Amino acid sequence: MPPPSTVQDIESYLHARQRKGLLRFITCGSVDDGKSTLIGRLLYDSKLIFEDQLSALERDSKTVGTQGGALDFALLMDGLAAEREQGITIDVAYRYFTTDKRTFIVADTPGHEQYTRNMVTGASTADLAVILVDARKGVLVQTRRHSYLVALMGIRKVVLAVNKMDLVEYDRAVFERIRNDYLEFARQIGLEDVVAIPISGLKGDNIAAAGESMAWYRGPSLLHHLETVDATDRTTGGPFRLCVQWVNRPDLNFRGFSGVIASGEVRPGDRLRALPSGKECHVTRIVSYDGDLTHAVAGQSVTLTLDHEIDLSRGDVLASASDLPAAADQFNTTLVWMSDEPLLPGRSYLMKIGTRTVSATVSDIKYKVNVNTLEHVAAKTLGLNEIGVANIHLTQPIPFDPYDQNRETGGFIFIDRMSNSTIGAGLIHFALRRSQNVHWQALEVNKTARAQIKNQMACVLWFTGLSGAGKSTIANVVEKQLLGLGRHTYLLDGDNVRHGLNHDLGFTDADRVENIRRVAEVAKLMVDAGLIVLVSFISPFRAERELARGLLESGEFLEIFVDTPLEDAEKRDPKGLYKKARRGEINNFTGISSPYEAPLNPEIRIDTMRLTAAEAADAILRKLKDLGMLAGN
Ligand code: ADX
Repeated sequence: MPPPSTVQDIESYLHARQRKGLLRFITCGSVDDGKSTLIGRLLYDSKLIFEDQLSALERDSKTVGTQGGALDFALLMDGLAAEREQGITIDVAYRYFTTDKRTFIVADTPGHEQYTRNMVTGASTADLAVILVDARKGVLVQTRRHSYLVALMGIRKVVLAVNKMDLVEYDRAVFERIRNDYLEFARQIGLEDVVAIPISGLKGDNIAAAGESMAWYRGPSLLHHLETVDATDRTTGGPFRLCVQWVNRPDLNFRGFSGVIASGEVRPGDRLRALPSGKECHVTRIVSYDGDLTHAVAGQSVTLTLDHEIDLSRGDVLASASDLPAAADQFNTTLVWMSDEPLLPGRSYLMKIGTRTVSATVSDIKYKVNVNTLEHVAAKTLGLNEIGVANIHLTQPIPFDPYDQNRETGGFIFIDRMSNSTIGAGLIHFALRRSQNVHWQALEVNKTARAQIKNQMACVLWFTGLSGAGKSTIANVVEKQLLGLGRHTYLLDGDNVRHGLNHDLGFTDADRVENIRRVAEVAKLMVDAGLIVLVSFISPFRAERELARGLLESGEFLEIFVDTPLEDAEKRDPKGLYKKARRGEINNFTGISSPYEAPLNPEIRIDTMRLTAAEAADAILRKLKDLGMLAGN
């Protein structure tokens, strides 16, 4: 058996090795709440520190410790974290340990700036959260944020650990005031199952055993509570779901489908359905690390073999044939944003749900949540660490379950196309009914027929460049020449479209994304109508130009970069806008206070410092001829 390296591997490992109860929990606290000390103490008091780590701890405590030579448990955790940080991209440290009663996996998430990313990652697999509060500070904004995320991620059991009781003279009144404050907030966000424990991570009170300082407290110690709290895994009870991670085909005689069981259980003979193909099959074998199984449950990594060959690949879902997930392409969701770059509705992101990756766009942010007051606030974008409710729209339907029924098939992350990094996480609440009742209508006259009657190939000539670069001037000459050749064209010009279809949009990043999304859709319709479409928009962002390209078939989209250096565009300043922008009279002006991302590989680049508009138009027409797009002329 290979050594476990990811949380899923660890879970499978533990499942396979021991049938003892398993509790996955997460610890949440701000930087100085004493989280590392607490976890270190928990491991130490339950005799779970390996000898070599302990001697290193004693040595380090004497040299760099903050506790005057006494054991500094924070050093222990920091040391472990540093060890694990090598080779992992997300800053969540998973520790696993066992007592006589139970096995634990603890996700330790740092409390620094990027905490939502870490917390969401840690919380997505946890059954319980330990929320740490400093007894001297009480419930902070950060405590509320953490709790809100915990509730959002579907964790129902919470321990409120009121730490550093030694620094408030073990005062019962302090503890009770914090507990009552917290319970009030917890109730509002639907956290009903909260156990408050007064502790001192440093001194060890109420960690593994009661200690003598807080005789007034009659509840369980933290470890006792963690060992005895009901930890029934709610995913075990649900319908069977397995997201296929890979197709295991070592030779022609064996074909199995591998993945972690997301919910439910499976036995040989069970009837399953493969999604999205909809094909039915029966399970023949459950292959695991430890040989064939007669039964497997949520959390286990298995390879299933089926009674006949069906079309099934990575990203597909195997589900109980008698209790299927729904399929849809539009959803109401909650999103947690994790990137410095704000969420922009209309931008196309990659969305990973289960093991499947699809293209997704946020169509509409309903509101964002002020996690301190729980107020709903109107929003056009979401910034770093913000949480909002939004509708999203995918380019294809996917099988799903609501997140509150299944975290694996209802939870997802957003990935940036350019950087490939995780920029958001979300949960599906429900599918939008409008998508269920709208179907694609098959029409008999198609794009080719419409273009043929005009004796042309429909396409988009997409002019991009700074304001004043000369896009519209050149596009105008090109259109005149095409008209002279008997071509049917249309020129979509940024300024003009902003007088009609897009008159509601300004120049923020979010509005520009929407501006280009709409005009790309219009250009696509016009191509479908058989036209040669000229689009002249600044279109400053690569992502949206790529979106436009992606809406069309290959060869139909020509990106024309009208390349004028900023200083020259500014010198020309045909509408006097640069002057105004320099005077601060126009916000978000491209090239001055808003970025322009030049094309990396345009089909055509026009150097306006060397070519007149007429010469540029000639060059574009020549290119069209070379590409065979003006056949017959
Ligand atoms: S885009 O960035 O969203 O593609 P678009 O091409 O529609 O822009 O509109 C650009 C035109 O709007 C410019 O040519 C200019 O005349 C005008 N304009 C007004 N305000 C701005 C601004 N802040 N930034 C850029 N262009 C502006």
